[in-house]
Amino acid sequence: MKIGIIGAGNIGGSLAQVWSAKGHEVVLGVRDPNSPKTQQALASLGSVGRAVSLGEAAAFGEVLAIALPWNAVRESLAAMGDLSGKIIIDATNRFNAEPGDAPSAAEDIARLAPGAYVIKAFNTMGWEALRNPIFSGVPVTAFICGDDAVAKATVMNLAGEIGINAMDAGPLSNARAVEGLAQLWVHMMRSGAGRDMAFTMIRR
Ligand SMILES: NC(=O)c1ccc[n+]([C@@H]2O[C@H](COP(=O)([O-])OP(=O)(O)OC[C@H]3O[C@@H](n4cnc5c(N)ncnc54)[C@H](OP(=O)(O)O)[C@@H]3O)[C@@H](O)[C@H]2O)c1
Repeated sequence: MKIGIIGAGNIGGSLAQVWSAKGHEVVLGVRDPNSPKTQQALASLGSVGRAVSLGEAAAFGEVLAIALPWNAVRESLAAMGDLSGKIIIDATNRFNAEPGDAPSAAEDIARLAPGAYVIKAFNTMGWEALRNPIFSGVPVTAFICGDDAVAKATVMNLAGEIGINAMDAGPLSNARAVEGLAQLWVHMMRSGAGRDMAFTMIRR
């Protein structure tokens, strides 16, 4: 698939690397092609690495992955142009909602990108798990929610391809719960569990 990764830091650089390794056509949409994070991501991609403007990445990708700090999302979406028909993966975490915000960051992105298919995914794990999803022999789970069945299946396939256990977590309104789970991950990480841990769902 053609994938535009918006942001080239820990999450963006990792997604770019693992999807590129699976044969997807990936571009990084960045504000500054010379920033240290962009340069590091490009170096890890080797000859297939390409950094373009936010608007160019948005036009390129059938799938767009938002890997930005929340405070950069509004202005960045505005710079990306018409996003209708695009599958937008929201990997962000918003730690300080403001009055007037939707109950989840993902629902706000859906409001800001009319006509796009917004899917919440990959926000409940550390970036390290994107590159190496196996913990004690068990894959990390991505809790994936969204309202469009085809878009959700596409993102679940993209997660499965890189070794992640993709779970359908229901409609986009469940993103508030999934974002809460990420806050729990951060709390536990800072309270002694460290970054080398992950949430997963197990079955009998
Ligand atoms: N780190 C994790 O383990 C983790 C896990 C799950 C979810 N998340 C979420 O994923 C998102 C990205 O986290 P990250 O750790 O990848 O962040 P990061 O390493 O700091 O990278 C942030 C990226 O966003 C870009 N950026 C920052 N401000 C911008 C602006 N105003 N306009 C355009 N681009 C801007 C940066 O560009 P420059 O290089 O130019 O600064 C960089 O490419 C956050 O919402 C975070 O909460 C992170």
